[in-house]
Amino acid sequence: MNSPRIHILHENYDWLPPLQAALDSAGLPHTQWSLADGSIDLKTQPPQGVFWSRLSASSHTRGHVYAKEYARVLFRWLEAAGLRVVNGSKVIEFEVSKAAQYAALAAAGFDVPRTVVVAGREDLKRRALEFPAPFITKHNQGGKGLGVRRFDSHREFDSYVDGPEFEEPADGITLLQEFVQTAEPFITRAEFVGGEFVYAVRVDTSEGSFELCPAEACAVPGQAAPGQVSLDQGFAPAACEIPGTGAGETLASTLFAKRDDITAGHPLIVRLRAFLADQGIEVAGVEFFETADGRLIPYDINTNTNYNPDVEAATGNAAATALAGFLGRELESRYATASV
Ligand SMILES: Nc1ncnc2c1ncn2[C@@H]1O[C@H](COP(=O)(O)OP(=O)(O)O)[C@@H](O)[C@H]1O
Ligand SMILES: [Mg+2]
Repeated sequence: MNSPRIHILHENYDWLPPLQAALDSAGLPHTQWSLADGSIDLKTQPPQGVFWSRLSASSHTRGHVYAKEYARVLFRWLEAAGLRVVNGSKVIEFEVSKAAQYAALAAAGFDVPRTVVVAGREDLKRRALEFPAPFITKHNQGGKGLGVRRFDSHREFDSYVDGPEFEEPADGITLLQEFVQTAEPFITRAEFVGGEFVYAVRVDTSEGSFELCPAEACAVPGQAAPGQVSLDQGFAPAACEIPGTGAGETLASTLFAKRDDITAGHPLIVRLRAFLADQGIEVAGVEFFETADGRLIPYDINTNTNYNPDVEAATGNAAATALAGFLGRELESRYATASV
């Protein structure tokens, strides 16, 4: 048990099987730690190995309200002991804050959606007046489309904010954002592993497509309860963190397709790769819009990413295999004698 291994730090078992299978196929020893609860004795040394964070921004929706706080402590402890944490403590802050993502992307020169960050409810209605309708809201600590809603008038927005349907964000921060009309009804999600581009996936957003999202708690617009503001504009099921798994797999999977026209040499991919390297983000799915007037707009960095099963099947499990290869090399480079 003490031999060096890959430690997966996570709070959702449902997402692990394809990743564990890839590690098994590569003959890599691995184990898992829960970020939902647990305990550590600060007097002890952590076990040896390479640690990989799969902290998810939506952990609170699974009842793991303090997973990010535990992750912050745990990763600091591991890093202080000199251990390698992939997507470690600095990356947590990107996972749990879209505002942090936009600020860093904008500073690096990317075209990001115009966004106003609102803490609490007080300023929402006033700041929303700065946006022409339609505009959208989303939670700063998002994932799974949490709090993503489109508003076609300020009146509609005001009654939402004042009403019982208002969705409290996990960290109290709601983002107001320009509504981006894509040239065609899809968004793109570019997967990076070990800092390298693996493939880009096209995700259909045509009207109603989000309803096919298979994730049980996928709170994308259109799945709102009666009385809630509901959108008829299709939003990407990529918002769902379990693309194409579980119930509805067949239908949902048809919404995802590999984009062969987006390669490692694509100018946006080249820039995103450099950005991720600068920020120390090693594993991520980055979503972007393409508009009719040529804007390329990254808008969501998923440092906890899941791969679509159909795309993986069609590519020989390209992303999961890349991940196992990356983690295996990290382990090997630190523990040359490890039985990997
Ligand atoms: N500014 C926007 N304009 C239009 N559609 C948007 C905008 N932001 C998000 N969406 C749609 O909502 C989906 C979920 O939003 P996103 O920012 O990715 O949040 P999450 O982290 O929950 O996935 C996106 O994939 C996209 O389809
Ligand atoms: Mg998203």
